[in-house]
Amino acid sequence: MVFKKKDLLGIRDLENEEIQYILELGESFREVSARYIKKVPTLRGKTVVNLFIEPSTRTRTSFELAAKRLSADVVNISAKNSSLVKGESLKDTAKTIDALGADAVIMRHPSAGATYFFAKNIKASVINAGDGAHEHPTQALLDLYTIKEKFGRIDGLHVGIVGDVTHSRVARSNILALTKMGAKVTLVAPPTLIPVKIEAMGVEVTYNLDEIIGEFDVVYVLRIQLERQTESLFPSIREYANLYGLNLDRLKKAKKDVLIMHPGPINRGIEISSEVADIPQAVITEQVRNGVAIRMAVLYVLLGGAEVEKVANQKR
Ligand code: NCD
Repeated sequence: MVFKKKDLLGIRDLENEEIQYILELGESFREVSARYIKKVPTLRGKTVVNLFIEPSTRTRTSFELAAKRLSADVVNISAKNSSLVKGESLKDTAKTIDALGADAVIMRHPSAGATYFFAKNIKASVINAGDGAHEHPTQALLDLYTIKEKFGRIDGLHVGIVGDVTHSRVARSNILALTKMGAKVTLVAPPTLIPVKIEAMGVEVTYNLDEIIGEFDVVYVLRIQLERQTESLFPSIREYANLYGLNLDRLKKAKKDVLIMHPGPINRGIEISSEVADIPQAVITEQVRNGVAIRMAVLYVLLGGAEVEKVANQKR
């Protein structure tokens, strides 16, 4: 398959076949990360810029490793050390990055839609690594991969997304990805953490975790994003943990082989208890591991895929 898009900005823009293709490629790239020498020459000579205008450890590192394992050169720009703090506009940052000859920009920004604006103003491919509460497509892709790895399918599974949906780009991208791939999605949280009319995205909503947890094949736990909440949306952290926190007691009501996922960073003792975070069914570190392979696949389809296939075909 030849991937024709310049950018990856949201799951919304992806066709089902494109998602399938990235998951399949992820499988082959995971093998590279398991080798003694974790490197292939696919993107040799390409330059990838990590532009993170918001803190991140795992996503930034994961993209950096993915690009390096494909032999690309990687440059990191963070909010603190960029000219954005000197008042440079995003448009001028885009022009500068183009002039420096970057082939791809991995961008995280606190405002929803910023990556779309940036992509319109730059020749390089743009990958959205999280824009405000909007989308975080590679997180959803690595989550699909992790679910498929465990169950062999996504179609027909029931996934419960529990927690701060309102502030979560991870939830939005996962809702889009999971429903596209045929899963049933139910959101569970206090009403103040669920956006109004979210049912229009094809999901169900419930406020009582204990009543529904037994129906889920996957419990996807979200972090309570205190840094994004401008008002008190629930009485106290302790009350939230009592009603919605995933602990061993609550887990007794779940299916025996339920898969527990979390995009990280986790707040032990709030949305997930420390004990649950460490049981084998909790695949939080597996998600991180799969993230590198999926991001390699995404870089490959945007930067190398079509070109490499063309060269390969010419040689035949
Ligand atoms: C998430 C994010 O930043 O959107 N983390 C991540 O990318 N792994 C979720 C979060 O911050 O809770």
